[in-house]
Amino acid sequence: MPSLQETARQLVSKGTGILAADESEGTIAKRFAVIGLPVTFETRRDYREMLFRSREAMSRYISGVILTEETLKQDAADGTPFVALLADVNAIPGIKVDRGAFEMPGTKGEKITEGLDGLRQRLKHYAEIGARFAKWRGVIAVSSYAPSRNGIRANAHVLARYAALCQEAGIVPVVEPEVLADGEPGDHGIERCAEVTAETLATVFDELRLAGVDLTGMLLKPNMVTPGVRSQDRPSADVIARRTLDVLKAHVPASVPGIAFLSGGQSDEAATANLSAMNRLGEAPWALTFSYGRALQTAALLAWGGDARNLAPAQAAFAHRAKMNALAAQGEWAPELDRAA
Ligand code: 13P
Repeated sequence: MPSLQETARQLVSKGTGILAADESEGTIAKRFAVIGLPVTFETRRDYREMLFRSREAMSRYISGVILTEETLKQDAADGTPFVALLADVNAIPGIKVDRGAFEMPGTKGEKITEGLDGLRQRLKHYAEIGARFAKWRGVIAVSSYAPSRNGIRANAHVLARYAALCQEAGIVPVVEPEVLADGEPGDHGIERCAEVTAETLATVFDELRLAGVDLTGMLLKPNMVTPGVRSQDRPSADVIARRTLDVLKAHVPASVPGIAFLSGGQSDEAATANLSAMNRLGEAPWALTFSYGRALQTAALLAWGGDARNLAPAQAAFAHRAKMNALAAQGEWAPELDRAA
């Protein structure tokens, strides 16, 4: 078995990134509603099979895929296990292990992520069936009264307990504290995002250290420092890159091998442009890449539309987005490359 460090490094190896395909049943229902597709075991399978069989995207640009428990155990329509499809394109299987974010008592609507009970046993089982990395998402909402110190501390604490349990099971923890850009009211400026992200990351690394987590055997999946989606503020990619790197450099130890961003409701092109601008700065001690859900999948989902006849254009759309983000992970993306497609 590869070590935690080897797996973590492979997940962020040059010119590759992670596909987040771990939408819960509720979230995938929202995505399918856009194309008018009912949500069943089979439609979820067909959609994800379309992505995983996109050979160009998967074998060249995708290092690993975050799956739901259902997908980790699911077979393609012809009976091939999904984990075998992933092995065939050299993509590492990962699994979302949290059980969602729920309202936290003692706060005004802030959320705490659940799923620690029984996690040690579940991780052992997931490792046996092929998962080599995992994801846990903590959600930090921004408003005039949130996040509270309690909300940040509690989420950071469970992230650290999750990460320690993953490492015990030989699984690389992807630690995801998401400062929401698309929460309510979502009209905060970049300054406020920088401040909340800084406090969140400082607390998360404090808890990770206290929990004895080996920082060389984990990955961080943060938000970029951006304004809320309903803010009037529209900073350039260079400004977002500068602000994000400044916050990360102040709070993320260089021993962490890689940072793989979430897209968090940014447009496809903004998520790519911002990542590329960060890599162009060339100052990061960690690998900087993507772990996108929406920003990798939306174009493919729309091209597919739930119709098997659209397989080729859907896979081409996915390959294009994956390639653009792979270029961005090396600071080599340019808008002309995107539009030429
Ligand atoms: P988005 O890139 O759509 O934000 O999803 C990434 C993810 O895994 C959220 O947990």
